[in-house]
Amino acid sequence: MKVLVLGSKGQLGLCLYDQLIKTDYQVVYASRADFDLGDLYSLSKNVSSIKPDIVINAGAYTAVDKAEDDKQMANLINHRAVAKLANVCEALDSWLIHVSTDYVFDGTATKPYREDDETNPQGIYGGSKLNGEIAITKSGCNHIIIRTAWVFSEYGNNFLKTMLRLGTDCDELRVVGDQIGCPTYAQDIAKAIVFMLPRLASKKSASGIFHYCGDLPCSWYDFALGIFAEAKAFGLRIPNSIVSITTTEYPTRATRPAFSVLECLKIQQTFDIAPSNWRDGIKIVLGGIYNQS
Ligand SMILES: NC(=O)c1ccc[n+]([C@@H]2O[C@H](COP(=O)([O-])OP(=O)(O)OC[C@H]3O[C@@H](n4cnc5c(N)ncnc54)[C@H](OP(=O)(O)O)[C@@H]3O)[C@@H](O)[C@H]2O)c1
Repeated sequence: MKVLVLGSKGQLGLCLYDQLIKTDYQVVYASRADFDLGDLYSLSKNVSSIKPDIVINAGAYTAVDKAEDDKQMANLINHRAVAKLANVCEALDSWLIHVSTDYVFDGTATKPYREDDETNPQGIYGGSKLNGEIAITKSGCNHIIIRTAWVFSEYGNNFLKTMLRLGTDCDELRVVGDQIGCPTYAQDIAKAIVFMLPRLASKKSASGIFHYCGDLPCSWYDFALGIFAEAKAFGLRIPNSIVSITTTEYPTRATRPAFSVLECLKIQQTFDIAPSNWRDGIKIVLGGIYNQS
């Protein structure tokens, strides 16, 4: 089976490498340097020439605030390129595994979002990701769209790494406490995807959207406390005081959903995949970074 991974140098892309290296699949990894998702003609030509059985798209325009002033580029990468990819997959009869976001929801719910709940993105990034989802669904290709949230790992830039960096510099840290979501360890997303691969052929009717995220909802403040509790156990410097603040005290260019907890029952029932234990994820990331140094 031939697998093509797009966005292979991003945080999820690198985790996919870590997991796929343990398998026997023939894998082609493509980063921005190999092909630009924004070059739609070349994208189509390149994917067609590789003829993958499965395309995993971990590439995306992920700068949530910047997207507010860069609508065209966010739309090109998260919508138009995804639409092109879906059409190529349909023509090749390949599966497309695509990753989307909790930001397709407006965050006004009071219970975890299900896959078929009404979407209502609050920003350009979420809107562009939703349009990508819609294009895949319309294309008719066999697909799995995984909506995930609050992704962290040992790679790239993410909340955990930001907290560790700030923790070494600041005595007091102020972290938003009124946005609730589910941190997700990117290696767990990659493991979930790799677990699905051999099961796709027998699951054509399962084509659709699946939620996959951390098992325990929390605020960014709670997440920070969890990170620093672990950091302390590793002997790292942590702030003297960590203060919970409101979203209005930490304004951002793009509006974030106040509540973006995703219900992950469907992926559990269809593929027997359990949600990510993000507390373990924090331990593994810190262990990987600090046990080596
Ligand atoms: N991070 C989160 O908290 C989060 C939450 C929910 C959903 N997601 C979704 O999860 C997926 C993976 O996210 P991630 O955290 O791994 O993001 P990431 O680290 O930003 O990786 C995205 C990758 O896409 C690549 N890319 C961007 N524009 C490209 C282009 N024009 N051509 C080729 N490659 C391009 C980037 O390349 P460069 O490095 O060269 O820019 C980067 O390697 C995305 O679909 C994202 O929307 C993420």
